[in-house]
Amino acid sequence: MKPNNDLTIPQFKPAERFSFFKPYFFYALDKKIELLRSQNIDIIRLDIGSPDMPPADFILNALVEGAHNPQNHGYMTHGGTQKFRKAISNYYQDRFQVTLDPNREVIGLLGSKEGLFHLSQALLNSDDIALVPDPGYPVYQNSTRMAGAEIFYMPLLEENDFLPDIKLIPTKILDRAKIMWLNYPNNPTGAVAPYALLEEVISFAYKHHIAIAYDAPYCDVCYDDYKALSIMQIPRAKDIAIEFNSFSKAYNMAGWRLGMAVGNPQLIEILSNYKSQADSSTFAPLMEAGIAAIDGDQSWLIERNLIYQHRRNLVVDCLTQAGFKVIIPKAAIYVWSHIPKGFDSSSQFCDTILKEAGVSVTPGTVYGNHGEGYFRISITSNNQRLQEGIQRLINTVKNNSTEKGTIQHE
Ligand SMILES: Cc1ncc(COP(=O)(O)O)c(C=O)c1O
Repeated sequence: MKPNNDLTIPQFKPAERFSFFKPYFFYALDKKIELLRSQNIDIIRLDIGSPDMPPADFILNALVEGAHNPQNHGYMTHGGTQKFRKAISNYYQDRFQVTLDPNREVIGLLGSKEGLFHLSQALLNSDDIALVPDPGYPVYQNSTRMAGAEIFYMPLLEENDFLPDIKLIPTKILDRAKIMWLNYPNNPTGAVAPYALLEEVISFAYKHHIAIAYDAPYCDVCYDDYKALSIMQIPRAKDIAIEFNSFSKAYNMAGWRLGMAVGNPQLIEILSNYKSQADSSTFAPLMEAGIAAIDGDQSWLIERNLIYQHRRNLVVDCLTQAGFKVIIPKAAIYVWSHIPKGFDSSSQFCDTILKEAGVSVTPGTVYGNHGEGYFRISITSNNQRLQEGIQRLINTVKNNSTEKGTIQHE
């Protein structure tokens, strides 16, 4: 760089590999909503999946007690303390009957998002391909881009219950594919994976030497007596798969930034080495509270899931009665719905609803091209706000309808 002799203010540009990144959707949306609220507009946020209820008291107590321990304020072991990793392996044993070595097959994360993002950086070369579900959590594709690798999208279609048809992946793609991302219970569709799909995926990955990154942060937020699976329950999964899990949704701890990855020891080691360059583990009391969460009484989660289930029913019933075509989720904290007739695109629909109803919902295209024609409602608001938000949304659609007062879908 030339010396700056005339003292003009220097201009900084992002690295080329990052220059085509826009801000993360919810980061940009936060700013937009902050502006609207500063104009005293009442915005009901049904967009982001941030649990509105607190964790159980015994979890909070563990955090406070931990903070009073003078030995808890230094740097902690990379990838989480032994006790934390042991508690995670006990949780997998109790919840899924899966045995994990806490020293080689478990790592603590600063929320699962960073683990997902960092795995791509640590694993992918520029001539590798990542198989990414569409629609899917945006971090799978963005982390692949950041790593400079290529993406092959696996469409998740409604007629296929939002499951990938892996037989359709061309051989020339499989030759270069290094990782396949999967996420069930699924964000944004609410779909769940049957055992048979997970079995098929594991034997497919074996055959083609592809690592499976299974993202399961909603595995403990289920409805109608459904119990989600861990991919680690499939025989030989540990040879080929890494599973990400999180305290964010399962224990109402999204702001705490606490997560985990488990499974294949090589993948865990690669991620662990990478993370040791980027972070220095997390605050010990957070891990102690995490231990309390997974080791303690799980019965409060039943009540919590019933609250979500009630909200899910409320949203599904109101929208269906109004004429929307809605997917009924068995798990996770979202309702995935078709946009009604008369709107050009998901984002035009969501922009109109935000502007005219003061309700923020997420366009399906945030999750990929196959999200076009859909929008996502998060059920992380109390009944009253949720009901008001849905009612405002329905009224706005009716007002915009060419045949006033009716809602139609394609
Ligand atoms: C599918 C999926 N994976 C991972 C995450 C990240 O969760 P966290 O980083 O809070 O653990 C989310 C958050 O919404 C998600 O929907």
